[in-house]
Amino acid sequence: MSAKPSFYITTPIYYVNDIPHIGHAYTTLACDFLARFKRLDGFDVMFLTGTDEHGQKVEKSAAAAGKTPIEFCNQVSQRFRDLAEFMNFSNDDFIRTTEERHKIACQDLWVKLEENGHIYLDKYAGWYSVRDEAFFGENELIEGENGEKLAPTGAPIEWVEEESYFFRLSAFEEKLLEFYESLPPTVLPNSRKNEVKSFVEGGLRDLSVSRTSFNWGVPVPGNDKHIMYVWIDALTNYMTAAGYPDRDGEKFKKFWPADIHMVGKDILRFHALYWPAFLMGAGIEPAKRVFAHGWWTNEGQKISKSLGNVIDPFQIVEEFGLDQVRYFLMREVPFGNDGDFSRQSMINRINSDLANDLGNLAQRSLSMIFKNCDGAMPSPGDLSDADNAILDAVDALLPKIREHIDIQAINKSLEVIWKVVSDANGYFAGEEPWSLKKTDPARTATVLYVTAEVIRQIGILIQPIMPHSAEKLLDQLKIPSDERGFGQLGGSHRLKSGMPMDKPEGVFPRFVE
Ligand code: MSP
Repeated sequence: MSAKPSFYITTPIYYVNDIPHIGHAYTTLACDFLARFKRLDGFDVMFLTGTDEHGQKVEKSAAAAGKTPIEFCNQVSQRFRDLAEFMNFSNDDFIRTTEERHKIACQDLWVKLEENGHIYLDKYAGWYSVRDEAFFGENELIEGENGEKLAPTGAPIEWVEEESYFFRLSAFEEKLLEFYESLPPTVLPNSRKNEVKSFVEGGLRDLSVSRTSFNWGVPVPGNDKHIMYVWIDALTNYMTAAGYPDRDGEKFKKFWPADIHMVGKDILRFHALYWPAFLMGAGIEPAKRVFAHGWWTNEGQKISKSLGNVIDPFQIVEEFGLDQVRYFLMREVPFGNDGDFSRQSMINRINSDLANDLGNLAQRSLSMIFKNCDGAMPSPGDLSDADNAILDAVDALLPKIREHIDIQAINKSLEVIWKVVSDANGYFAGEEPWSLKKTDPARTATVLYVTAEVIRQIGILIQPIMPHSAEKLLDQLKIPSDERGFGQLGGSHRLKSGMPMDKPEGVFPRFVE
């Protein structure tokens, strides 16, 4: 394996009782963006996604569809693979919890926890929500419209009384509180860290980690009447894919602990509380960071199947274009906050940021080069203050972007790029190369060269967010494919003058209703 630094990022594994929707596409897109960014920045990346196929909910959905659980899982899991391909996600692996490698990993982790004295057999009596696959205390319940008791998520609950294994979660309070305070931050955004921290401060009860009332899952080693709680099973996927239980293997040594578990805010507690506690119990280091992003609403309304307003990622990509949707989802909302999806804001982003700002700048400058500079990249003359200012701005972008990416402020990383795009538009308009071309062709050549150089660097920097469009831009600039990494940014790799150019084609069309 190479000596490059490693970066391991994971998406949640998706339940197969549902077809892919905008929420799934969003979480995976954020990871795809970060994985692509890190690859270009010289890291050896492992990017994992997959499907969560066990549990009572899946068993029930399969029965309702008249299928065996595995037939049902095969079918739905494939749709998530299709989504990954359709959205140009660059995952390196796709894990399914029904795979043998995963069963081995789960059982090994269980045995470690048992050997370390963190698992004991007792009886569970309490409320369980199949939809959330979670247990709830009486004090957490809410009242439904007809006075019935519901889970805090609004899901129906049932009273469960059965023999169960328990994990000594209560023993991990202090260690978890220390974990939340360690730096660099282990849980982001800060508001989410505080949320999980105060939950722990409120006191932890031991967690029921096995069920006997259904079969679709990983049997507890040594007592196969019991099926492991689906969240132990699901969370372990992150280690399975890194080669666990082969802890001395190259892959595990390289990629564990994972750098980022990306999750939605609804599953924060599982990732920032249960998962680190399980790992601590097994003597394994927890992931370096859990980042919990917000949720989308649709035109101001909560998205739900019953309201019939679920956003289908396949459909919006068909309508607006893939890179356009990728850009919108990552740019529109401060990453970590909730956001609203609206047609109008999507169209505004496409027409203003992409078509007007970046698209026009590229199309106008490259067309002028093609027409006025004998179809080849011109040579710059002496640089003016204005030329130097815009070049300095683009040369200085990468370290600024990295600072944002280090805390997953994806939208901010795009904002700083678009600030330079906007400055470059100001520069181009201010220099008026079109009116200079007769009187001062040398100056025209310089302005066009400088603008093209800005576009080269912007083209390299937008590869993580809009891979296809970036490729088109860089192809038009004749940048060889091995000169598109972040090592090529900055002042020491300027565009080569004299390179023959083709007639440019617009990369960012306007969206017309
Ligand atoms: N199977 C569990 C995760 C196990 S990970 C060890 C699960 N699956 S899920 O299919 O429900 O996951 C959905 C993901 O999509 C979560 O990260 C969730 O936050 C996200 N979203 C679901 N609806 C969403 C929106 N409306 N907006 C943004 N993301 C949302 O949970």
